[in-house]
Amino acid sequence: MLQTKIKQTLRDVADFPKPGIVFKDITPVLKDAALCAEITEALALQLKDVKIDVVAGIESRGFLFGLALAQALKVPFVPIRKAGKLPYKTIQQAYELEYGSAILEVHEDAFTAGQNVLIHDDLLATGGTVVAASKLVNQLQANVAAYSFLISLDFLNGKQKLADFSKHTFSLVSY
Ligand code: PRP
Ligand code: ADE
Repeated sequence: MLQTKIKQTLRDVADFPKPGIVFKDITPVLKDAALCAEITEALALQLKDVKIDVVAGIESRGFLFGLALAQALKVPFVPIRKAGKLPYKTIQQAYELEYGSAILEVHEDAFTAGQNVLIHDDLLATGGTVVAASKLVNQLQANVAAYSFLISLDFLNGKQKLADFSKHTFSLVSY
């Protein structure tokens, strides 16, 4: 079963990047080409009943399956990046995550008004990152159609924060 294979392949790294954090390392998953193909297919299948015009992936690990998912869904991909990386005019949102704080940016012409945006990231922890990404989507008058994650850390209750933006949150494995 895909969920079991993903869980068996992920690596837990204790006390990274700070003491007390158990980091879910996806690099062993990325080394398995067949598993990556299965993951992309499963992420796309979860979204079959949701209207999606564009996939937005969050730097950096959200880029890995984000572009693959956009290709599988045959829609455009938009990178949401950490501050200072995007070359054109941007809008910004500051946020807190499980182990720190940061600023996300997107190009001001990344979405058009009324577009249905799927926000993809590798992992949902506290939800701080994807809430900031959702605010960027809404600032450009686009809608958050759904969220898609490879991994959800349900014990951190991030999902509750997402309900204000979309009723659809999908993940392949949860803890
Ligand atoms: C990780 C992960 C998510 C975020 C989740 O990214 O890829 O984007 O943390 O945490 P949250 O739900 O508590 O906000 P990180 O900022 O470590 O960046 P990276 O993808 O570049 O490693
Ligand atoms: N991002 C936030 N919390 C994380 C965790 N525990 N493992 C990997 N990425 C994360």
